[in-house]
Amino acid sequence: MTLPVHTAEATPTRPRPGATPARAHLLSDDTVEQYRRAVAAGTDRVARRIAAATGPFTGVRPDELAPQVEAIDLDRPLGDTTAALDELEDVYLRDAVWFHHPRYLAHLNCPVVIPALLGEAVLSAVNSSMDTWDQSAGGTLIERRLIEWTADRIGLGPAADGVFTSGGTQSNLHALLLAREEALAAATPADRRILLPQLRIIASAAGHFSVQKAAKLLGLAPDAVVVVETGPDRRMRPGAVRHEIARCRRAGLPVMAVVATAGTTDFGTIDPLDEIAEVCATAGVWLHVDAAYGCGLLVSPTRRHLLDGIERADSVTVDYHKSFFQPVSSSALVVRDRRTLRHATWHADYLNPARTVAQRIPNQVDKSLQTTRRFDALKLWLTLRVMGPDAVGELFDEVCDRAAQAWELVAADPRFEVLTRSQLSTVVFRWRPSGPGPDLTDAANLRAREALAASGLGVVAGTKVDGRQYLKFTVLNPATTVADVAYVLDLIAEHAGRYLHEHVPAADLTCPVG
Ligand SMILES: Cc1ncc(COP(=O)(O)O)c(C=O)c1O
Repeated sequence: MTLPVHTAEATPTRPRPGATPARAHLLSDDTVEQYRRAVAAGTDRVARRIAAATGPFTGVRPDELAPQVEAIDLDRPLGDTTAALDELEDVYLRDAVWFHHPRYLAHLNCPVVIPALLGEAVLSAVNSSMDTWDQSAGGTLIERRLIEWTADRIGLGPAADGVFTSGGTQSNLHALLLAREEALAAATPADRRILLPQLRIIASAAGHFSVQKAAKLLGLAPDAVVVVETGPDRRMRPGAVRHEIARCRRAGLPVMAVVATAGTTDFGTIDPLDEIAEVCATAGVWLHVDAAYGCGLLVSPTRRHLLDGIERADSVTVDYHKSFFQPVSSSALVVRDRRTLRHATWHADYLNPARTVAQRIPNQVDKSLQTTRRFDALKLWLTLRVMGPDAVGELFDEVCDRAAQAWELVAADPRFEVLTRSQLSTVVFRWRPSGPGPDLTDAANLRAREALAASGLGVVAGTKVDGRQYLKFTVLNPATTVADVAYVLDLIAEHAGRYLHEHVPAADLTCPVG
């Protein structure tokens, strides 16, 4: 083995006599200085990049970056923190997509709060695993307190419980697993085989695709998700839910769950939760509320009422890594009745034997789909302990306000057409020239999005609405100003106009470039 070459930035502590040089890289009482320096060096690189970023992206193309990553021989270590960080600058940091930049307006990625980054640093170094008490101790209790706190904010009642997960996709899968098992609770194994392909989930056309994925993973039929079209406001209609439940039942198809969304991914709309909860209660159907995006309202000083009715859900997905300004990953599934969590329980002799239940030793693996699991809850804990919930809610309120201003701006701009006003922080719009047909308009919008990202001056998302190409701002950065939005709109119009002029004879055009 080659001895590591070290610089002043990351000098190793000498390994104990007789220890291999590789041991110098293990975090131990012998190497705490090296650990401090290495992490500080990494933090310093990121801080410098953040301070220097002039746009959210460099616009690097995969074919430009891939050869550099490919050229690295992973079997020949650099042996040196500084050299590895220099290399990382070239293959990652230089061209990273920066969510802290005010003109990053694309997906549901938030800038992150510093107390959570502190949590990230602590949790990865201690490296607790959240499956059992003997791997996490206080971590188990902290996670439990945060679940209790979240359930209280939702208003789920005294029997509520839940668990942290890797994200909204997992939380939704987990919720639907519990719903499936509740629906089949009384079934014999033979009945299960008959019933499984008959189960139906009612979801909104504006809901998240992870519901479809979950249905597939849960072994349901390919047409198990009954998609309910939304109204023009892009919200699920309670009457349509009632109608579909009745229709399924007439067809002999048991409805195992209704999935309502508090913050649709594209439109930022919130389904009428109270009315849908009423429909579900009357029909005796499990209500899952996907609040992956809208959960930030739980701490909003001014908008909590938008979630009214969520307290009637059987299960709720909350993604702290979307609207609580937490680093990925940080999500939770919270349920009204803790007994339903047993559907994910499996006792393994080596880990969580049944006797640990009798001994009242708390463990989280009994509730989780994962075994080894990060202590992501620590990030939220430090966030609440340093900033407090109101400060997080204020940040979320700010982005909702900014998105409302952005909507006004787009709506008043004759170059653009804008859709439904979001209750959260998205704006769905498109450049609308007069003259060319819908296909060319679609292509111009698509091209404008790509050209904008390639320029590195701004990043926006795209989506299809009723078969046509739209663009989308997701505002999750309180630092984004109306001037940033106006600047990006001008760039979009310029790129789209240029595309059109390159593809349509001038005589057919009535719109100027830009
Ligand atoms: C409403 C909704 N639910 C679920 C998800 C999936 O969450 P994750 O990406 O954390 O898995 C998303 C992601 O954007 C979402 O918007």
